[in-house]
Amino acid sequence: MHIAMFVDYHPASLGGVQTAVSALRRGLERAGHRVTLFVAPDRTAAPDPDIVALHPLSIPAVNGFEVVAPTRRNAALIDAEFAGRGPIDIVHTQSTYGVAIAGMKAARRHGIPLVHTAQSRDDAFIEHTSPAPYPTALALRLLHGRYVPHTHHMPHRPETRAARHAWWTISGQAQAADQVIAPTGHFADLLLAHGVTRPITVISNGVDDALLEGRTPAQRTDDGPLRLVWCGRLSGEKRLLESIEAVRRTDNCELDVYGEGELHGAAVGRIVERRLGDRIRLHGRVTQAECLDAMAAADALLFPSYGFDTQGMVLLEAAAVGLPVVYTDPALAESVPAGIRAADVTVDALADTLAKLVADRSLLAELRTALTGQTDAVRQSRQIAAVLEVYRLAAADAPTALADDVAVFGRRPRARGGKAAAVRRDRRTAATSEDRRQSADAIVVAVPGAEGASMTVGRRGNGVGAVMRTLAGIRAAALRTAGTTPAAPIAVADFPAVMPRTLAEIPTAPGAVPVLGHSLRALTDAPGFVTSLPRLGPIVRVHFGRQTGYVLTTPDLLREVNLSDAEFEREDLREAIADIAGGAVNVLRGPEHRLRRRMISPALRQTRLAEYAEAAADIANSWAAGLPRGERVDLMDEAHGLVLDTVSATLFTADFGDSARREIRDSVPWLLSQVIVRTALPPQLRRMRVIANYRWRSKARHLRAAVGAVVAEYRRRDEDFNDVVSALIRHTDSETGERLSDDHIIDEAILMLAGGVGSMASLTGWLWHEVSLRPDIAEKLYGELDSVVGTGDVRPEHLGSMPYLKQVVSETIRFWGPWISAANASADLPIGEVTIPAGSAIMFSPYMVQHDPRWFSDPETFDPERWNAENAADTAKKAMISFGVGRRRCLGDHFAMLEIALASAALLSRWRVTPVPGHRVRASNRDFVLSPSALPVTLRPR
Ligand code: HEM
Repeated sequence: MHIAMFVDYHPASLGGVQTAVSALRRGLERAGHRVTLFVAPDRTAAPDPDIVALHPLSIPAVNGFEVVAPTRRNAALIDAEFAGRGPIDIVHTQSTYGVAIAGMKAARRHGIPLVHTAQSRDDAFIEHTSPAPYPTALALRLLHGRYVPHTHHMPHRPETRAARHAWWTISGQAQAADQVIAPTGHFADLLLAHGVTRPITVISNGVDDALLEGRTPAQRTDDGPLRLVWCGRLSGEKRLLESIEAVRRTDNCELDVYGEGELHGAAVGRIVERRLGDRIRLHGRVTQAECLDAMAAADALLFPSYGFDTQGMVLLEAAAVGLPVVYTDPALAESVPAGIRAADVTVDALADTLAKLVADRSLLAELRTALTGQTDAVRQSRQIAAVLEVYRLAAADAPTALADDVAVFGRRPRARGGKAAAVRRDRRTAATSEDRRQSADAIVVAVPGAEGASMTVGRRGNGVGAVMRTLAGIRAAALRTAGTTPAAPIAVADFPAVMPRTLAEIPTAPGAVPVLGHSLRALTDAPGFVTSLPRLGPIVRVHFGRQTGYVLTTPDLLREVNLSDAEFEREDLREAIADIAGGAVNVLRGPEHRLRRRMISPALRQTRLAEYAEAAADIANSWAAGLPRGERVDLMDEAHGLVLDTVSATLFTADFGDSARREIRDSVPWLLSQVIVRTALPPQLRRMRVIANYRWRSKARHLRAAVGAVVAEYRRRDEDFNDVVSALIRHTDSETGERLSDDHIIDEAILMLAGGVGSMASLTGWLWHEVSLRPDIAEKLYGELDSVVGTGDVRPEHLGSMPYLKQVVSETIRFWGPWISAANASADLPIGEVTIPAGSAIMFSPYMVQHDPRWFSDPETFDPERWNAENAADTAKKAMISFGVGRRRCLGDHFAMLEIALASAALLSRWRVTPVPGHRVRASNRDFVLSPSALPVTLRPR
């Protein structure tokens, strides 16, 4: 790999970022990669053929650093270097200002994947070092914003106005990259808290392995004064003067200071004035190796910086030589394997800590013992694999096993979508990879918005071919296009199973765009989007508008969370449907939810289902008998009508329910379509839809009134009509003695229509569609129907003798399970070691789990045989989550299975279904179950 790294500081200058970048460069080179470094010039530096110094502005250096801007002259220089040095695979920026911006722009110009390491607390730096922090931060923000869009949403936080301006630049720079690396979890959390939505990976910086060769942790004796060492810039934010004061107050304690900086003079003055010359020594600037030598001879590293360092390279160096650390900032604890922290940020607290160490040397011995075995962990070589993985993700470089004559181009997809963008991107990428392009027979191009697992395949010169949804599909199609056959079986991509330990370690799904987040990706390709998530990890962060959600990608995790005591709520949905069913069970929470579930579940119990099944079978038989022979019908419309009639008839069978059933037929389809739009829109926009809102409220009122009138009549008659409303009216809760009010019953009846009709109609439609495409399945089903049902009507008791029909229903429910379900955590929600903040949406996708090759072999094949008695594996059964799990599991699951089976038996026992040729069935995601757009078919009697 050839990596172009862009940093605003020359590696010859002093600083943690420079040290970290140099170590990473060497680590990558040692692993066989090539690195070209683009930096600000440093006149004192020795020439290096792999370092390109950009042109500085003709203004004085700031803090000793030349200032570089992303000028045209620099762009031309970078372009010439890119051309001269051969193809660049990754641009990796490591700072926030001119050089990094120039790198970011070069990446975009050349269509090269862009990785950014965010590691500088520019906010703290400006506040500590600038005489006028506010105007400085504002000016930098405005300048930065000229080149880098600051369009993301940055939530308000308790910080100064100067810090907030500085964070616009830090987060804006991160937001511009395809992948972000943060050296520590706490800094990644800060990036997230400042609105960064790009995928962030926490990868620690590392100490250059070469520096550690031959070094063994020093074995010190405990005699003599406590010997402290300080390594780093002598500047205010590092709190050198406070350290001198703390050492002064501690008897039997010495300090050796290595480094240079603007506080040198003040430090000398303080030492002379307080007569500390025999205890505190300033050594000036030394090499990194000399610094490590000094550490090896000391008792502890003094590192009292507070609220400034994201990691502190010297902390890693101390760990590498087995040296304990005395520090102040709690955020640094994750980078200090063994150390002692001052109680607070005051000099008193620091002095107290030093005194403690002087008084009890066994503390130091304990810390040193704790460091045993830790020293290798901070080597740079330990981090390289993780960095390369981020490069790989950025490049969305999926099919590594492709034949040699297939070239894979692509960069991490950005906001815009569609084929045109894919082709444009291909041209831009190809400009820097012309040699690979020329020798390829097929070109695979990353499709925007579909990280890795979704690609467009085309023959060289022929433009775009087919859009594939799965990695396996991509490989097969690419090989087909290349005119070869796959030589090896297509491998399943890796699924990382490691649970995140901090919020920041949770990966964010790629493809978010400003304001809308992932909504666009999810709306344009819901199956592609959800099935790409498990490859990112067990928990994946997504953003739908301003709502942050955490998708649980394994069934075990989902069970763990949904079976725990965690409480969830659905305030958005409740508000969106308040006019029609705002008090129904699925939007209630806590004890109210539990009570309501208890009260309505008897109405859907299997004992009562037997009664509903009679009505459902009658409706299905007379519907099937009335279908037109030889004419074109849309089976999707038919499924909707049939299911709607069936659900309303099972709600209330009594004759006086006729007008309510008519009202349901008239208004429920439109109201259902609005529920989806209303829930997706932010409340402000929802309120702006004046005409739609008026219609919505009026229809909702009529529907509630019609259902309410029937409920009132049921109460008056006090009879059991063997239907859902009778069951609800007559139920008394055994624990509380409570009964459902009319309003409750109206809410629940409408929820059953809302939750049941669309999902059952879609699944029934999919079953018919799959059967119409697969003669093998159709014939087997016809055989079973003929022997069990014969030429007469379907009866509920037939179902028990039709195992194959049951297998086809189960496979339909697997293949076309709901693509999304979400509820918000009512309180902070611990999952493993991570705590998900209260209010976050916790999401799961049955479609995603049920298309995951870990639980279902060959998941993209519709195969009812996977459910026969011999094949049905426990893993697969456990991973069937179409009806949810735990305390909010669907109450209508048995009813749904029954209705889908009865409707299908009634249709297929009478008719052969032939799809209208040329019609392409699309999966629409307007509901939580994907729905066939339309199913035009002709029917022939069997
Ligand atoms: C094939 C069709 C259906 C599917 C795929 C389906 C799926 C689901 C899912 C995934 C949930 C949410 C689980 C969660 O949030 O954890 C749910 C909840 C629910 N479903 Fe269904 N459902 C279907 C049909 C029905 C029918 C026909 C009814 C009623 C007659 C129904 C009644 C309910 C109710 C009342 C809830 C809310 C339970 C609660 O919040 O405690 N569903 N359903």
